[in-house]
Amino acid sequence: DPKTVKQYNCSDRTSFAYVSARDRWPVILHQAFDDVFRTNKDNTDQAVVQEGKKIIEQMLKLKYELQHDRVMTPLEEDGEEDIKHYNVELTQLGNPKWFEAPWLFAECYLYRRINTFFTKTEHWKSYDIFARQKSSTFRSSLPAVLELATRYRSLFSDKSALHDPSHTLEQRAEAEKLLFIEFFEICLWGNATDLSLLTSLTYEELQKLQGSDARKASEKNILVNDLSKAYDVLKAAEAKGGERRIDIVLDNAGFELYVDLILAGYLLETGLATTVVLHPKSLPWFVSDVLVEDFGSLLSALADPASFFNTADDDAEAKEKVALSEEQVEVLKFLFSNFAGHHGEGGLVIRPNRFWTTADSYWRLPFTAPDLFEDLKQSELVVFKGDLNYRKLTADCAWDPTTKFEDAIGALGGKSGMRTLALRTCKADVVVGLEEGKDEELKAGTVERRWGWSGKYAVVQFWDGKAE
Ligand code: F6P
Ligand code: MG
Repeated sequence: DPKTVKQYNCSDRTSFAYVSARDRWPVILHQAFDDVFRTNKDNTDQAVVQEGKKIIEQMLKLKYELQHDRVMTPLEEDGEEDIKHYNVELTQLGNPKWFEAPWLFAECYLYRRINTFFTKTEHWKSYDIFARQKSSTFRSSLPAVLELATRYRSLFSDKSALHDPSHTLEQRAEAEKLLFIEFFEICLWGNATDLSLLTSLTYEELQKLQGSDARKASEKNILVNDLSKAYDVLKAAEAKGGERRIDIVLDNAGFELYVDLILAGYLLETGLATTVVLHPKSLPWFVSDVLVEDFGSLLSALADPASFFNTADDDAEAKEKVALSEEQVEVLKFLFSNFAGHHGEGGLVIRPNRFWTTADSYWRLPFTAPDLFEDLKQSELVVFKGDLNYRKLTADCAWDPTTKFEDAIGALGGKSGMRTLALRTCKADVVVGLEEGKDEELKAGTVERRWGWSGKYAVVQFWDGKAE
């Protein structure tokens, strides 16, 4: 980890670390035990119910410890190797209290600790406390889901700017690049709707965030945009021919995963990639992050959209049922068969790794997970989605905001052998690679970097660790 720059700490009163630990985590814990309570309520199997009660007790205890700033206790063994890794770190940090710990470590520990309550049971091992929230927000995203499905399918029409024979080769190349930027920007802003932050978003607000007008209006909020650089390296790889792999280190399920799949589909259809490898999480993580099971849920929603989107669920803001037209059903089914087809043919690969749910920053990737690092070096481009990935790339440190991106990503900078592209909407304090004076301008005289907390701004940053 960086020696000269400090990591954000839960004790930093002016950072989002403190606000998160004090205000947001208790709410997330509350919603989590609410969920278990609901599941338990209807269960008739006493063995399950008893375990459910025990889980709730442990969650309440955890919430108490957090809110009373107790020492963070070692994680209990559950048979997975990462437990030891977490506990060694805890010792190295000097067994801190909650409000003494580095933000990144404390937040990852929180989700891993919750997970142990489940892994140690008989009946709840793979229960996802956030599944209800994830699927209910996906339901609320229907208008944007449809808009994008139609946009995606138009790529396949003869009139698509990609293949229209009445256009010159140059025009088609130009169209490909514009679409590349568009699909990546869709993919970027798809992250603005993560559930850990937007705990109280209304149906209308959510839809506003996701539509194409919102995207155009938001372009000026992308403070650094290196997409053309990424495009150039992919075109160069395409010109060489042969296997061309792109990796996406995923962030959130539901709408964001949906746009990730659209991006992956675009890359495969245009031949910019021959394989897209997707990296999900191995345990319920930061509320909305993608688990392997979330793929299945998303694909079944697309396979049978009428029943998925017609099911009113009591969490949703939108209570009225929606009736999909035949055309709408058809376009969503088209996406299903397209995605399932790519998956079946091996173009779309899902590859979990426990490293993603450690508390390690990516400065440690080559040391903690050397095999994963070697694997990622095989890729033409590794795309990191979202805020947490960015915090991990930059070790969640209080960098000077004008620090170069490649200087803030440790072992992934320099001639690492790996190409990194961060697609990040800003929901935390850390930020690098800004122009001189930009941060001051956005802070507008305040001490806190509030502009960076809300997901309104974004950075798209690239480093070519394969360059000669
Ligand atoms: O800043 C709020 C927060 O919950 C962070 O704790 C975390 O880094 C992030 O949002 C999660 O967002 P994302 O899903 O974009 O990684
Ligand atoms: Mg997330």
